[in-house]
Amino acid sequence: MTELRDIRVLTKSEDSTLNSEGARFSDKDISLIDECKDALERMDVNKKGLVLGAGQNTPHWMAKGWETLDLLPEYNTTFIADANNLSNAVGDNKYDFVLAERITLNPVAGDPTLVRGPSGDYFEPALGHNNLLAEANRILNTGGRLIIQTIDNAGMQVGVPVAEQFTPFFETYGFKPVLVVSEDFRIPEVRKKGVEVTWYAEKVHDL
Ligand SMILES: C[S@@+](CC[C@H](N)C(=O)[O-])C[C@H]1O[C@@H](n2cnc3c(N)ncnc32)[C@H](O)[C@@H]1O
Repeated sequence: MTELRDIRVLTKSEDSTLNSEGARFSDKDISLIDECKDALERMDVNKKGLVLGAGQNTPHWMAKGWETLDLLPEYNTTFIADANNLSNAVGDNKYDFVLAERITLNPVAGDPTLVRGPSGDYFEPALGHNNLLAEANRILNTGGRLIIQTIDNAGMQVGVPVAEQFTPFFETYGFKPVLVVSEDFRIPEVRKKGVEVTWYAEKVHDL
C-alpha cells in the first residue's frame, strides 16, 4: 500500500526551481506536472479534458478548450450531473485529463452527495473522494492525468481529504500520484493554517 511517505511531495517553490533547471525532460514526476500545467493553460486540440465542479469558472475552462461538469444547472456546463456517477453522465468518452477544481470532497465513509457546510446549518453538494478516483479511472485513458486541486488542514475543515488518508486510495484506484503543496505541511504549525494541495496523478491501469 502506497503511503504519503512513499510519494513525491514538492513545495511550489521546489517545483518551479526544478522546472527552471530543465528537469522537465529528465524527471518523470516533473514532466507529469508540467504536462498538466500546459493542459491547464490550453487544451491541445488532439486531447480531451473535463473539469469537475467547474461552477462559476465554466466560461474560463470552455475558453481554454476543456469540457465542464457541475451538479447545478445555472453554470451551463457541458454536462449537468452528479460527479459521483461521472461515467454514467459522460458515457464512454475517453479523456486525457480530468481536473477536480476545488470541488467539495467528502472524506466520510458512505459518501453521501451532500455534506454539512462549514457553518453547520446547510448542506452543500460534495463528491466522495473514493468515487472521484473510481470514476476518473473509468473515463480516463490509461496514461491519462488526474489533477485534484484542494486544501489540507489535517481534517479540521469539512469537505477536504487528509493527505495521509487520501494517498493510499490512489493506488487502490489505479493511479500513481505526485503532490505539490503551497507550503510544507509536514511542519505542524503550517498545517493548522490549511495548505493548498494539488495532486497530479497518472492512471496506470484500468480497474
Ligand atoms: C467550491 S465550488 C468550486 C467552483 C470552481 N471550480 C472554483 O474553483 O472556483 C465547488 C463546485 O463543485 C460543484 N459540486 C459539488 N459537488 C458536486 C458533485 N457531486 N457533482 C458535480 N458538481 C459538484 C458545486 O456545485 C460547485 O459549483
